[in-house]
Amino acid sequence: MLCLGIESTAHTFGIGIIDDKGKVLANEKSTFTTDKGGIHPRKAVEHHLLFYEFVLERALKAAKVKPKDVDLVAFSQGPGLGGCLRVGAAAARAISTICKVPLVGVNHCIAHIEIGKQTSGFKDPITLYVSGANTQILAYAAGRYRVFGETLDVGVGNFLDSFGRSLGLGFPAGPKIEELARKGKKYIELPYTIKGMDFAFSGIQTKLDNLAKSGKYTKEDLCYSAQETVFAIMTEATERAIAHINKKEILLTGGVAANKRLAAMLERMSKDRNVKFAVVPFPLACDNGVMIAWQGIIEHKAGRSHKIEETRIDQKWRTDEVDIPYIKSE
Ligand code: ATP
Ligand code: FE2
Repeated sequence: MLCLGIESTAHTFGIGIIDDKGKVLANEKSTFTTDKGGIHPRKAVEHHLLFYEFVLERALKAAKVKPKDVDLVAFSQGPGLGGCLRVGAAAARAISTICKVPLVGVNHCIAHIEIGKQTSGFKDPITLYVSGANTQILAYAAGRYRVFGETLDVGVGNFLDSFGRSLGLGFPAGPKIEELARKGKKYIELPYTIKGMDFAFSGIQTKLDNLAKSGKYTKEDLCYSAQETVFAIMTEATERAIAHINKKEILLTGGVAANKRLAAMLERMSKDRNVKFAVVPFPLACDNGVMIAWQGIIEHKAGRSHKIEETRIDQKWRTDEVDIPYIKSE
């Protein structure tokens, strides 16, 4: 069985094709980026409208398949930016109607988790899901992925992107901050904002913006200190989760999982705790159509599919609102 998955929640329009054994046939995408400044939602929509056909053609070509070979279409139904989600949903409805195949709308955040489980072979991890808009510590319990800890304000990716903007780094800033941080030498003290299992980043951001404006510190030291602080906060909360919940695996997933320093901190903590650690492979870390296609396969196997009238997008669809029929509780 082949599933074509469409991702369009924010900056990326992606199409992935995967089979039901987990073999990736195509992972094509086009991402809206800037040299300076953040992303404007309307600009992202224009980008998706301009590139979706091109991405689709490239994906079919890379997979060496024709539209008639596709057995299932999946798309990101939420959460995300309204206009962006609508482009993906419209494309998915059209392809499924033309190809006369079932359609499944999936939750983008759950897809970030499941692709990490698929690539790591983990069955029941505690997941640190770190991306632009989301930062959550999740684990499965009684029919859903439950949130054991999360950011109380912005997602860590958005934090990095906003801080990067004040340094004039453009979007996305995460990879550039990682690069600069490698050359940082001096740790600058920053607020360490963790409350139990939850944490917050906006106070750190204000402090960093002020430090950057003062002109007294190098970009390298600021990036290094920002990373060390926020990654330590998330590692501490994840460690607390693993200490309280009886799980034996830690999974790192989402766009910020591409960061080597964050992975190294979590790996070290997992070793100390004697639990397994895995990070989602780089091409599947940032938003991509493959994870949506894979989510489509596992949900469809569990009997889920949607009529066109059930495919309205949901901009605010939370991870812990999704019923998970395909995991059997003990
Ligand atoms: P969400 O999953 O919450 O909807 P999203 O879809 O915007 O968010 P992803 O594509 O999963 O997010 O992640 C994008 C984020 O990852 C951006 O904020 C980007 O700066 C960050 N990012 C990408 N690579 C790195 C890196 N090497 N280090 C740190 N951050 C990174
Ligand atoms: Fe994402």
